[in-house]
Amino acid sequence: MIVPNFAAIASRYLIQRCHELDNMLKTMNIRPEESGDCEAIFAVHANCFPTTAEARLVDLLRAAGRLCVSLVAEEDGMENNRIIVGHVAFSPVTTEKGAVGIGLAPVAVLAAHRRRGTAAELVRRGLAASQAAGHTWAVVLGEPAYYGRFGFQPAGRYGLSDEYGGGDYFQALELVAGEMPTAGGVVKYAPEFAKFAW
Ligand SMILES: CC(C)(COP(=O)(O)OP(=O)(O)OC[C@H]1O[C@@H](n2cnc3c(N)ncnc32)[C@H](O)[C@@H]1OP(=O)(O)O)[C@@H](O)C(=O)NCCC(=O)NCCS
Repeated sequence: MIVPNFAAIASRYLIQRCHELDNMLKTMNIRPEESGDCEAIFAVHANCFPTTAEARLVDLLRAAGRLCVSLVAEEDGMENNRIIVGHVAFSPVTTEKGAVGIGLAPVAVLAAHRRRGTAAELVRRGLAASQAAGHTWAVVLGEPAYYGRFGFQPAGRYGLSDEYGGGDYFQALELVAGEMPTAGGVVKYAPEFAKFAW
């Protein structure tokens, strides 16, 4: 007769519950980047994208004073520390007619910390911070299925296009009602973007 090892079963159950509780207790915090965060932000992008282009772009934007909004997501680490697990950057964009908006790029969350709404929170807080800073419209070049949840719509509807031939992947969002430039033509990202072949 096989006797169940209740002690082993109970200990496995307890270990699993501890992991679940540990995850629940981990608090995610979104805040503006601080001077000591640069290396961690670089590491997030370098880990999340195939090359270091996005990581270097963030450094260049910062050095040029064009990182208008830069937010990090941090979580509790193993040693009572806080670790940066995600980052979003916003920099100025300009239409052919000279209207200035804000461009969301890049955003990244470390693989082990995904699908918990961290990027969504970074994007929402970043858009709110952009609006608070006086920006009236935003653009993003990304997956419509993802960015649609924040209210982004294909920018073509507003007569806007991007330099990269993004089509419907180039999306725009009005941050202040009635302030979206119409028939603005091609929207240009900050000059630092041109230093990379996307
Ligand atoms: C995209 C990314 C930032 C999402 O981070 P995250 O914290 O997991 O995002 P959230 O938890 O807010 O949202 C996850 C949801 O978005 C969906 N999603 C993520 N990327 C998506 C994409 N490219 N297209 C469509 N859906 C996407 C997921 O399937 C998931 O869907 P669900 O909510 O229905 O489960 C992360 O996957 C990442 O860093 N990827 C590599 C870098 C990258 O591609 N950045 C975006 C382009 S700049």
